[in-house]
Amino acid sequence: MIQSQSFQFLVCGTDTDVGKTLISAFFVRGLQSYYWKPIQSGINDGTDSQFVRKMSQIEKEKILNESYIFNTPVSPHWAAEIDNNLIKTECLNLPNIKESLVVETAGGLMVPITRNFLQIDQIKTWNLPVILVCRSSLGTLNHTLLSIEALKKRNIRILGLVVNGEKHLDNPKTLKEFSNLPIIAEFPLIKDINHNDLDILWQELNIQENLDLIFNRHS
Ligand SMILES: Nc1ncnc2c1ncn2[C@@H]1O[C@H](COP(=O)(O)OP(=O)(O)O)[C@@H](O)[C@H]1O
Ligand SMILES: [Mg+2]
Repeated sequence: MIQSQSFQFLVCGTDTDVGKTLISAFFVRGLQSYYWKPIQSGINDGTDSQFVRKMSQIEKEKILNESYIFNTPVSPHWAAEIDNNLIKTECLNLPNIKESLVVETAGGLMVPITRNFLQIDQIKTWNLPVILVCRSSLGTLNHTLLSIEALKKRNIRILGLVVNGEKHLDNPKTLKEFSNLPIIAEFPLIKDINHNDLDILWQELNIQENLDLIFNRHS
């Protein structure tokens, strides 16, 4: 599939384990994009790059090498200290890709990557727009609205939200109303999800058209 327009954005989350990697795989497959996970903390359950490669079935050349892979599944600043390999922000420069690119950040926005630099500070320097992945369930209103406030305060462009998990009757509507941001997708909970499910959802949720509209509104 040849994409006419290239889309480059960051997939950020309101927390760890909210579904950033799965949603990244969804976009990587749908857009046939490159994927970059600059900082990977924890390798025992496999890396996010490995998961995205398997789930999206994208060619391996499109999975870019991590800048840092740490052994321990803790916040990047501490994982780096444990491995005696502190993060240097000059090693986090965006790869020089002209085609579509999905960059998955670590943890939530406010996780430290060094003792005096937060993930959100790095997001600001990358200067790419953000898609924010949040949980659909109880607790998400507070986490998501706080995350949006932190991004807006720093003038970081937010393309929209992906609400991930079991369908919730009110949270997406409430998030949309308070944030004034589009809901790019309500991504359902799917057991044993595979690339066929991703393809079906890409069509059903009309993601290509949503992205076209949102990107062109912002640019
Ligand atoms: N919508 C979903 N349906 C089924 N499993 C999901 C869904 N979203 C996330 N998961 C699973 O939950 C776990 C955490 O998701 P992950 O994408 O790794 O989160 P993060 O990258 O934010 O830490 C993974 O095992 C993932 O496959
Ligand atoms: Mg992840």
